[in-house]
Amino acid sequence: MNILFASSEVFPLIKTGGLADVSAGLPLALQKSGQDVRIVMPGYPQALARGGRLQTVAEFEQDFPGRLLQGRLPGSRLPVWFVDIPEYFQRAGGPYATAGGLDWPDNAERFAAFSRVVCRLAQNRLGLDWPVDIVHANDWQTGLVPALLSREKTRPASVFTIHNLAYQGLFPWETFNRLKLPQELWSVDGLEFHGRLSLLKGGLVFADQLTTVSPSYAKEIQTPQFGYGLEGLLRHRAKDLHGILNGVDYRQWNPARDPHLAANYSRTRPQGKRTNKQALQQCFGLPQNAHIALVGMVGRMVEQKGFDLVLHALPWLLQQPLQLVILGSGDKRLESELLAAGRRHPERIGVKIGYDEALAHLLEAGADIFLMPSRFEPCGLNQIYSQRYGTVPVVHRTGGLIDSVVDTTPETLAAGTATGFHFSPAEPEPLAQAMARAVEYYQQPEYWHRLVDAGMRADFSWQRSAAQYLALYETLRETAAKQPGQPNPQKR
Ligand code: ADP
Ligand code: GLC
Repeated sequence: MNILFASSEVFPLIKTGGLADVSAGLPLALQKSGQDVRIVMPGYPQALARGGRLQTVAEFEQDFPGRLLQGRLPGSRLPVWFVDIPEYFQRAGGPYATAGGLDWPDNAERFAAFSRVVCRLAQNRLGLDWPVDIVHANDWQTGLVPALLSREKTRPASVFTIHNLAYQGLFPWETFNRLKLPQELWSVDGLEFHGRLSLLKGGLVFADQLTTVSPSYAKEIQTPQFGYGLEGLLRHRAKDLHGILNGVDYRQWNPARDPHLAANYSRTRPQGKRTNKQALQQCFGLPQNAHIALVGMVGRMVEQKGFDLVLHALPWLLQQPLQLVILGSGDKRLESELLAAGRRHPERIGVKIGYDEALAHLLEAGADIFLMPSRFEPCGLNQIYSQRYGTVPVVHRTGGLIDSVVDTTPETLAAGTATGFHFSPAEPEPLAQAMARAVEYYQQPEYWHRLVDAGMRADFSWQRSAAQYLALYETLRETAAKQPGQPNPQKR
């Protein structure tokens, strides 16, 4: 199959979160299973600089002057098409926001232009002679792709993946007009969401099939608590909505080979983990104590991730024999409160504000416990990486965290399946209690070893998840073949 995979961030070309990891890992796994996959993404300067030798393969004048450049995903043979529209993407700063953290004021224009180019590619109208079978779009930045394709007489089948329903690409009604979108799309059965333009709805309403990144989140988003008012639409599409757990690219996340570590190690040769713990304590200026439980956190400092719960739980946490190291950036107030906590307890808490890929790897390797108190979590990747690094996750019982971490109970421990600790609800006290439970196990090496070992054995490689996506693509292709020439086999 010819699969066009559209994403607004792809590791290692550019990354703000898990979407980038998935947008490399999944296409690579699909390619490995014999499919012809091409990634298409915006031509941000950072990405262009890392995309290898670039070739101009198409030019477009209409609406927005630009080019399509072809490069490769570093370290692979996977082709990447960069949509190079200088006016929109050649600027210093992040993919969605300025260096200061403010959303780009023309984000709607930027991603509408990107989506329009993706549609031309999907329709094989850029002279590349590559007929597309499946367009796989991701998150609100590509929501217009299924919406615009739905208006075509013949078109490839589309899959839209929800990585996070909290980000919807909402813009005022005026933006809809400015983007010159087809007037028919302005309806509650289209892109309108309570009087505003929702780019996410373009995917949710018009894609042939929907997926999200874990089975539990697929259920949760059909309820008011997690659905942000879109739960009705998602329930309506329930038979087309699939939860497929993300995988891990173990070429990037493998303690036996990881170049960012102080020492490499593996399940059968675990000694090096100690060296990483020392290095991590040193890096965060904490006393070097091999016996105290070292707890790590990495993530975007936003409401979703629950860093504030940790701040509120500190009085309890500090009564436990543990040290805490935190890496992240985001909300300025959270950043400064966490830094202040670090200053108040320099022997116990280390905080680094910023984005640091290498340190994230060292943190996974050096910590004993990884804390992920997310209020909601579509999938979450760090709790999965942790397991391969012999670092036991403590997680809020939600979304993908449920599907990837097995809570420790007498039964799961006896069965050798326990890999971590769940808590619920997402409040400071249950969080502190789960941490106390984890620390108690940590102090009993024979039990702890079972958790670590089960986690390191667990296999979350992409191959399994990619097979599920492939099965979905196949069903779409079959439907399309049965209904030749149909404008949109599943149009509602
Ligand atoms: P989300 O996509 O919601 O941010 P995920 O758990 O899916 O959450 O993925 C987050 C990814 O981003 C992980 O690979 C994590 O290591 C990385 N990450 C997040 N914040 C940082 C940071 N400050 N420094 C380095 N890596 C980070
Ligand atoms: C989103 C989610 C995260 C998920 C990632 C990749 O950013 O917040 O849970 O792992 O996408 O799918």
